[in-house]
Amino acid sequence: MSRYARPYIEGLSLYYDPKPGNALRMDTNTNPLGENPAGKDALRECLEMDLGQYPNTYGDGLRKELGRLYGLDMDRFVVGNGSDEILDIICKTFMEPGGKVVIAYPSYSLHGWFSKANGGGVVEVDLLPGYQLDVEGMLRAKGEIIIVCTPNNPTSNLFRQEDVLALIEGSDRPVVVDEAYGEFAGESLISLVDKYPNLIVTRTFSKAYALAGMRVGYSVACKDMTLAMQKVRVPYSLDKVSEHVAIKALRDQDFVRRSVDIVRKERARLEEGLRRLGMDPLPSDANFILFRCPKSSAQLTARLAVKGVLIRDFGAKRLLEDCARTTIGTTEQNDSLLERMAEVMAEWL
Ligand SMILES: Cc1ncc(COP(=O)(O)O)c(C=O)c1O
Repeated sequence: MSRYARPYIEGLSLYYDPKPGNALRMDTNTNPLGENPAGKDALRECLEMDLGQYPNTYGDGLRKELGRLYGLDMDRFVVGNGSDEILDIICKTFMEPGGKVVIAYPSYSLHGWFSKANGGGVVEVDLLPGYQLDVEGMLRAKGEIIIVCTPNNPTSNLFRQEDVLALIEGSDRPVVVDEAYGEFAGESLISLVDKYPNLIVTRTFSKAYALAGMRVGYSVACKDMTLAMQKVRVPYSLDKVSEHVAIKALRDQDFVRRSVDIVRKERARLEEGLRRLGMDPLPSDANFILFRCPKSSAQLTARLAVKGVLIRDFGAKRLLEDCARTTIGTTEQNDSLLERMAEVMAEWL
């Protein structure tokens, strides 16, 4: 490593970086309906934009539109380059250098990564059997921020809402509730941001809005926390084009409803198909399913990749031994996955 880099950077790893080519992508929990139809129309309108000028500093157009959707003032929202940028802002705002975030394990790996990338540490508190929160354990753990994600990635289940509320009510520190998959579960804490001065909800346009390529996410929190976050957010981080596309997508709630409907319909069918092949799918409230394989999940994932289907292997992780995760796709995509999986299982001696 470069001797000029901060010492803690040596311990960081590069993120998941597959080379998908033309493979069927069931590995990133994106939208079964493909890209948002508002996207290309909105992009055409962007041809009229003056790209020589900066976007609005804080993405006010999108913040107003989000305010309209949720019935909140725009000063409750921070918008950014994916909800990942928002998680980074949260660490920069609420964690001292050398501090720690408390996260559930297993959960979204970048929750801890953003703390480490900001020179902090991580306290992982194992989920209880059934992949539910260990509320007492998380409340006892020392760290400046608590982050949980519900429905949880990669376990795909919702946490009990009373547990998440107990975390918020029981701590005098920011509690981040990552609702990247919230639309699929139909549950949200957004309406409570003015009740709880320590609650931050994060959401994304990458999943139910089918705009992962545009990189747009946002947080909802009380006015004071939002203002603090705006002070460290990189000015102009949401570009004009992404903001315009996101606004158009937000106005097409029918697309979101159709995405949620297809996921709900296909979920049961895909679970059943996985079961028939000897897999053990866990209950899902999201647009993906975690399942335990009767054989090595690493091998299954590698063999499927050779056949042109990408899923995500988690089998090397503690508490996820021989588990893999697949996105819930369209009927055709799910059939394709199940057919290739059946071939792999039949060829496996
Ligand atoms: C739980 C969770 N949070 C946040 C993100 C990041 O989303 P974005 O594309 O908005 O950065 C993901 C992406 O997969 C995720 O699974």
